[in-house]
Amino acid sequence: MIIAIDGPAASGKGTLGKRLAAHYHFRHLDTGVIYRAVAKALLDAGADPADEARAIAAALELDPEKFGHPALKARAIGEAASVVSTFPKVREALLTFQRQFASEPPGAVLDGRDIGTVICPNAEVKIFVEADPVVRARRRTLEARARGEEVDEAVVLADILKRDERDRNRPVAPLKAAADAHVLDNSNLDIEAGLKAAIAIVESVKARS
Ligand code: DC
Repeated sequence: MIIAIDGPAASGKGTLGKRLAAHYHFRHLDTGVIYRAVAKALLDAGADPADEARAIAAALELDPEKFGHPALKARAIGEAASVVSTFPKVREALLTFQRQFASEPPGAVLDGRDIGTVICPNAEVKIFVEADPVVRARRRTLEARARGEEVDEAVVLADILKRDERDRNRPVAPLKAAADAHVLDNSNLDIEAGLKAAIAIVESVKARS
């Protein structure tokens, strides 16, 4: 079984994906980390994330061993990841890895922006996670502070809105709910309640098949 989770920045899809995967004993891939790794490679080399040729080269050379690096979560990297992810050839270079990951037993949970629409259009379960931007900014701010990053909540909100706008409006694989996705609004749900709602969706799909 493949569970595809999509949603905007800081919507809680990563935490949900991780918890859902643990619940079903599936493997989990946070696909944002892949785009972040490409962005970090460019920033580390002093290159501009908007430099398409360098972004493509970095995507082709990507080392999956680096995906778990905590430094990838920094705000500046999220913004740069959103820029590199607009390039179709960057997305293409990262596609096979994601599909391969999804296809291996016993099952997988992938979260991102285009999992239900492009990467795994045949996923048995598709969940589109939404949350009010103000709530998302609040959560992201607390996360950043817990990591010791000094952040201004208003700046985080502006960042999130800018990133959503870019991710939603890019011509290739934009952020959007697949026609057959279940929408889960977690603005007013804590982690446990969000997980419970997602499990209910998975179980309803299983009961129908
Ligand atoms: O989920 P995240 O914040 O870690 O993602 C960082 C950026 O990567 C996001 O703004 C857009 C891009 N991304 C994407 O284009 N497709 C995905 N499946 C996941 C992330």
